[in-house]
Amino acid sequence: MGMKVGFVQFEPLFGEVDRNLERAGDLIMGSDADLLVLPELFNTGYVFTSKEETISLSEQIPEGRTTQRLCELAREKETFIVGGLAEKDNGRTFNSAVLVSPGGYIGRYRKTHLFFEEKVWFDPGDEGFKVYDIGTCTVGIMICFDWFFPESMRALSLMGADIICHPANLVLPFCQESMKTRCLENHVFAITANRTGTEARGDTALLFTGMSQVTGPDGSVLFRGGGDSEEVRTVEIDPKAARDKNVNTYNNLFADRRPGFYGDLVGKNTKE
Ligand code: ACM
Repeated sequence: MGMKVGFVQFEPLFGEVDRNLERAGDLIMGSDADLLVLPELFNTGYVFTSKEETISLSEQIPEGRTTQRLCELAREKETFIVGGLAEKDNGRTFNSAVLVSPGGYIGRYRKTHLFFEEKVWFDPGDEGFKVYDIGTCTVGIMICFDWFFPESMRALSLMGADIICHPANLVLPFCQESMKTRCLENHVFAITANRTGTEARGDTALLFTGMSQVTGPDGSVLFRGGGDSEEVRTVEIDPKAARDKNVNTYNNLFADRRPGFYGDLVGKNTKE
């Protein structure tokens, strides 16, 4: 069955949570998606300057207002939404993303591979990768720099994800092209939702590169957004197209794996 999936691309303003929730809400209300992905840290912005600031802008999941607002929007639009936000939990902070549905909150993911100064502001994710059966398909979540580690998408794909939801705040130029290979080697769809604009705070100035992208299981780019535009875009896909992992009559992407020969890649240091 066909399903409309897409991304919301916009420029969050640092610390302006009310404004960012309103802007994202307006864009979501104007879309016709069954599944929408918002950028990483879409409600707060990205460049934190102290742990105190990170804690003050972080929210509990699912009690916090950002998750609650996303639940309202999902109910009103009858859509599933994945969005990135800063989470606080007993003095710890995580760069997290939530999955919400028309029926309410479903689950969260805490970023596994922290990038750059995120290592100062956030704790590394402690719950690992998870997938969720949402009826029409199975979705998995990874956040931005997780893409740089092929294990992230491989793990989610082996767990049965048809679609990888990928909130992002990309600053390096490699991800969009690399997602073609990530999707091809796992035969899955991916929705990379990136932000736009520049944030200069403290000693750090970052330019975020937009070009959010929906990528198909054959490595094709189904849609790529502009580098600096605010946009919400959807593409119609059949998520079941991700399930046949055969390459030809002899080769299957998963059955042909030889984990016994992969050494440290499997089984060792799994939680460090
Ligand atoms: C990133 O992980 N935000 C580059």
